[in-house]
Amino acid sequence: MTFWDFFFQGECSAVMADQVEGESIDLVVTSPPYGEVFDNSDHYCNEYDFAAVAEQLWRVLKPGGQVCWNEQDKEGSGDSSGLSFEHCLAFKAIGFKLVKVIIYSKFAQPRRGDVRLYQTSHEYVFELAKGFPATVHQIEDRPNRTYGRPADSHTHRNKNNKKQQQWCKPPKEFGARGTVWVYDTSGGASYEWCDKELLNDFPAPMPEKLAGDLILSFSNPEEVVLDPFGGAGTTAKMARKYNRHFVYIDLLPDNLRIAKQRVAKYHNKLPLTNEVKPSAT
Ligand SMILES: C[S@@+](CC[C@H](N)C(=O)[O-])C[C@H]1O[C@@H](n2cnc3c(N)ncnc32)[C@H](O)[C@@H]1O
Repeated sequence: MTFWDFFFQGECSAVMADQVEGESIDLVVTSPPYGEVFDNSDHYCNEYDFAAVAEQLWRVLKPGGQVCWNEQDKEGSGDSSGLSFEHCLAFKAIGFKLVKVIIYSKFAQPRRGDVRLYQTSHEYVFELAKGFPATVHQIEDRPNRTYGRPADSHTHRNKNNKKQQQWCKPPKEFGARGTVWVYDTSGGASYEWCDKELLNDFPAPMPEKLAGDLILSFSNPEEVVLDPFGGAGTTAKMARKYNRHFVYIDLLPDNLRIAKQRVAKYHNKLPLTNEVKPSAT
């Protein structure tokens, strides 16, 4: 039995094992700890067992369900951890398909790290599926350079080897985006202004637009989106905003407090259920 629209406090692989029914989740949007050390230990913890988490994610996902795993490598001077790649290949080893590697590119960010080296301005989102992905709604926001030109035609030979003119549809204003997704992450641009105070204490929120775009792309309304490393509740909030159900898990009680407040304003979008989900089988 899985509780929808529910905040669980605890170690995520144990909570999933105890509380989340097999094949009950449509989509996972999550960002694990990156190995960074933040001094605010009330809000951040780096300890987790990757193998145990990955095994649970495989178990709880429906066939065709997907995991969007957002990770950035911890960087030393001239040598990055490479942990994101290890995780990606480990997911493949247990059976996940690596559907796409989405680059989450940061339009603006403060300069960090060794100034002699290029500034890292992206993170990965590994799109991993249990089988072929059940849902992909491609976001169409790439401006078409040919938009506005009159309808075009081309000539080809038909099966009788006669030349034939064929008219093409006029180009649409926007086409589907590719796998580089660009977001403004400068102060305040990645979350709603009303959440600013709440996020003061939390070191690593995901941009709301990124979580929202992943949810819109890879799930349908009323489906269930899980975040096992729920943090300040960005995935849960965007799930509610877009009429999906959520399952939130985090180790630290203070993060649950922040997450519940951020999600609260979207409660009326979809009735909060906390109902027991019927068995998927
Ligand atoms: C990068 S943050 C997630 C941020 C989140 N995506 C957001 O937008 O707020 C990682 C979170 O994982 C939590 N965490 C670390 N280890 C955990 C574990 N084993 N089980 C559950 N949560 C854990 C941390 O407390 C932290 O809140």
